[in-house]
Amino acid sequence: MADLKLTDVAKSYGEVNVLRDIDLDIRSGEFIVFVGPSGCGKSTLLRMIAGLERISGGTLEIDGQRMNDIPPSQRGIAMVFQSYALYPHMTVRDNMAFALKIAGKSRAEVQEATDRAGRMLQLTPYLDRLPKALSGGQRQRVAIGRAIVRDPKVYLFDEPLSNLDAALRVATRIEIAQLKASMPDRTMIYVTHDQTEAMTLADRIVVLAGGGIAQVGAPLELYERPVNEFVAGFIGSPAMNLLPGRVTAAGPVTTVQLDGGGTAQAAIPTRAGDEGMRVNIGVRPEDMRETDGPAIFEGTVDLTEALGEVTLLYFGTRGGGVPVIAKLPGIHPGLNGRTVRLTADPAALHLFHDGQSLLYRPGVDLPPYRPRAAMAVPA
Ligand SMILES: Nc1ncnc2c1ncn2[C@@H]1O[C@H](COP(=O)(O)OP(=O)(O)O)[C@@H](O)[C@H]1O
Ligand SMILES: [Mg+2]
Repeated sequence: MADLKLTDVAKSYGEVNVLRDIDLDIRSGEFIVFVGPSGCGKSTLLRMIAGLERISGGTLEIDGQRMNDIPPSQRGIAMVFQSYALYPHMTVRDNMAFALKIAGKSRAEVQEATDRAGRMLQLTPYLDRLPKALSGGQRQRVAIGRAIVRDPKVYLFDEPLSNLDAALRVATRIEIAQLKASMPDRTMIYVTHDQTEAMTLADRIVVLAGGGIAQVGAPLELYERPVNEFVAGFIGSPAMNLLPGRVTAAGPVTTVQLDGGGTAQAAIPTRAGDEGMRVNIGVRPEDMRETDGPAIFEGTVDLTEALGEVTLLYFGTRGGGVPVIAKLPGIHPGLNGRTVRLTADPAALHLFHDGQSLLYRPGVDLPPYRPRAAMAVPA
């Protein structure tokens, strides 16, 4: 059991404010992922929770108890870092046992805890090896093992997979998911800039930007209902396209005349009086499809990337601006240099005004989030 509550948490280094207004309720057993651009304060926030960094303002509570001035060792927390920082002259078992020995645990307790961590992390055959005789993935598992032996209530991970190569990252990510599943009542907070890790591991993602929280929600909620253009662009790859235009008809479905010439129907409500309002239509590359009818976007393909399962089409890469990107399922040879017309389902479109999603406008009756129904498969 470990609920965490952050209220109005702030961090400054002298004059420089790094974080402010951080309000966050984390429920016992949740897997929370912090994402955000480099330097936005992810590690700082994690280190404040761990007690490795002083909290400049606000309160951190764990299970209702104020933790601001409690030393790290008494918070029931263990942290795993990007650099595994193993003791090179100690075996795997001794690396994992070190903190327990310092804490004065008996030989039998140490043996039992390290055996158990070894089993959980498939490190049993390597317990007597030195770190230099392990792969990067195994070394990171030892670092996780050092956390497990202490049986903390809260696990903190700071980009634990960043030093691993791509294949190992995937394998270790799955191991972390399984580890969490085996400890349903342990709370985990995980920092990453890798959105696949965020989407696959998190119960809820916290998007940090500009010193504050941009949005908190389930991964698919952030994907389908981003609160602003920043979150829209940050979650999903390639990033959501933003096409500027003007509202021409308001209502439950909004018609937008795009500056590029197309017309879009977005299933997002606008009100009488909104006609003429400047907006950006947001459309994800994977939601675009070719059409002979009315198009949201028409352009000449100036680059294609064939990835096998999908083909990426790039438009406007030469102007120096942000290119429009479409992602079509399957293989599409010969599209380079062709002019194509693209549309998307009105329910898949997003609508932003001044960078903010109109879905979250005051007065809009937004039902609780449910994932968009899977597209019907034609018979
Ligand atoms: N000891 C420090 N003194 C001054 N500024 C710092 C210190 N540590 C971190 N920062 C600043 O705080 C910001 C957030 O850093 P960090 O939490 O490491 O970002 P992230 O983990 O999201 O990449 C950065 O702009 C960084 O320069
Ligand atoms: Mg960091």
